[in-house]
Amino acid sequence: MITTLGFDVYGTLLDTNGVVVTLSTMIGNQATAFARTWREKQLEYSFRRGLMRHYDSFSVCIRQALDFTCSLYQTPLDEAQRTLLLKTYRTLPPFPDVIPGLRQLQSENFRIYAFSNGSADTVEKLLEHAGLLDSFLGIISVEDIRSFKPDPAVYAHFLRKTGATGGNAWLISSNPFDVIGACSTGMHAMWVRRSPEAIFDPWGIEPTLTVPSLANMAFQIQEFEKRRQMLS
Ligand code: LAC
Repeated sequence: MITTLGFDVYGTLLDTNGVVVTLSTMIGNQATAFARTWREKQLEYSFRRGLMRHYDSFSVCIRQALDFTCSLYQTPLDEAQRTLLLKTYRTLPPFPDVIPGLRQLQSENFRIYAFSNGSADTVEKLLEHAGLLDSFLGIISVEDIRSFKPDPAVYAHFLRKTGATGGNAWLISSNPFDVIGACSTGMHAMWVRRSPEAIFDPWGIEPTLTVPSLANMAFQIQEFEKRRQMLS
């Protein structure tokens, strides 16, 4: 069986805390809390735009969330500083396990796609900057259908574009809302729990598998598929 993997980008492959160093030079020890609020607000804006059928790109959500967070923290960041922060968000670093993990998956013949809320153009530049672009067969972006994860239409779009079916397709994500979104449309989903403090939403929908990083991911999926074949 050929297995197709769709990798979430922000927070799964790329570390959204990559902005903290730049932020620290601007707002000192508020940087970590600011970065967290900024990220949460981006996601909230994407959820709300999806529900309202009021699509604009994820880059717009990121920019508007930055403006909101500046107001919330009453931080007098000027235009040049905001521009620098947005640029930093376009050059986020990969987590250290990502390059070896993707290489291993490629060598095991998994079909690997990037699957993101970001527009294809933005994601391509992000992955190129992070040195990851060559690992992917393609980029599947929500912009094609003008909605956002976890709209079920987005996961259906992923399956349509890759020609996979729910039974042989996995979402790989550190974002619980994304994992739950994929599972509830019949895909398998792997939660990359990068920190022991990360909490999964108690909705009664569990990830198919949970791993701490991309290391050994190929093995985990292969073992899961073997067990499934034995039971069928
Ligand atoms: C993405 C966000 C959800 O890359 O992390 O799709």
